[in-house]
Amino acid sequence: MTRPQVFVTRRIPADLSVLEAIADVEVWPNPTPPPAQILQAKGQSIDGLLCLLTDPINQTVIRNATNLKVISQMAVGYDNIDSTAASQAKIPVGHTPGVLTTATADLTWALLMAAARRIVEGDRYTRSGQWQTWEPELLLGPDVGGSTLGIIGMGRIGQAVARRAQGFEMKLLYHSQTRKPDLEQSLGLDWVGLDDLLKASDFVSLHCPLTPETHHLISDRAFKLMKSSAILINTARGGIVDPQALHTALKHKSIAQAALDVTDPEPIPTDSPLLELTNLIITPHIGSASRPTREKMAMMAIENLIAGLRGDRLPYCVNPEIYLSQ
Ligand code: NAP
Ligand code: GLV
Repeated sequence: MTRPQVFVTRRIPADLSVLEAIADVEVWPNPTPPPAQILQAKGQSIDGLLCLLTDPINQTVIRNATNLKVISQMAVGYDNIDSTAASQAKIPVGHTPGVLTTATADLTWALLMAAARRIVEGDRYTRSGQWQTWEPELLLGPDVGGSTLGIIGMGRIGQAVARRAQGFEMKLLYHSQTRKPDLEQSLGLDWVGLDDLLKASDFVSLHCPLTPETHHLISDRAFKLMKSSAILINTARGGIVDPQALHTALKHKSIAQAALDVTDPEPIPTDSPLLELTNLIITPHIGSASRPTREKMAMMAIENLIAGLRGDRLPYCVNPEIYLSQ
């Protein structure tokens, strides 16, 4: 019997021997993603694909992948995968929910605190030799404690951020696709419409997926509604924020600051005007980047992949509807 062929689009922090025991495994050796032509060419001959959020698994890749039995992504977000095309082709798509919630909420909190207390600016100021004395009005920011945090997308990570905010006695507003009465009770959340959240929040933190509905959800219009003292945190996906509108808002101080772990595109071009702004912090998409978290994500992705190769139901599947008609 021929062994299944598997393509892994980058080195991942996992021992692949469990996979190699049942399949021939090729790992893309470069630190940057395989180009589109390679993905397409590989797709034609493989049974299993373990991919990352940087790999565009589009309709063309999926339609050409006639043997493909499973797409397993090492990430919770899967906006890079055309899951509709995968469902049409009856290919299950796996992802890694839950194990990265804590790490991503922690990074969100780090960015919120760093922006509020101007930590990156302070570091630059110190290193450039500008620190001459203690100054009563140097690098002042808002209080975090007691302020209002607006969370957009009250899922796993949104809830974990809300729990952190409770420790800072913040007032919590949220906007999500559906209301969550139980969480409103247990976390002390107030449900509001998007516009009201934007108007009332001192901090706005994004935790919804990137979808056609959330693409550029934070646009010129949204920035005009926000307080001039507001701080925007985005650890969800870059495409949720219109980068030109963000530049205008930060440059003209219609909001005070932003802190992003995700940009559109990624990586942010080195000549992006956003990089000239001092009231913006950017980290290189490291929300889940604790070693234990990345190891758990890799294991989950392998688990999904093996299930798919065996024809079993994926334990963490984004398109379970494909199993209904089988
Ligand atoms: P999740 O549990 O599925 O939560 C997403 C939430 O967004 C859900 O509660 C959903 O609402 C809500 N939502 C969907 N569409 C919305 C809309 N149009 N407006 C407002 N809310 C909407 O996912 P998660 O595990 O928390 O992850 C959230 C996102 O974070 C991922 O999709 C990924 O893009 C990003 N992420 C980034 C990093 C990083 O490294 N920076 C790490 C992990 C995840 P309902 O529950 O009301 O339906
Ligand atoms: C990271 O961005 C993820 O979606 O897991």
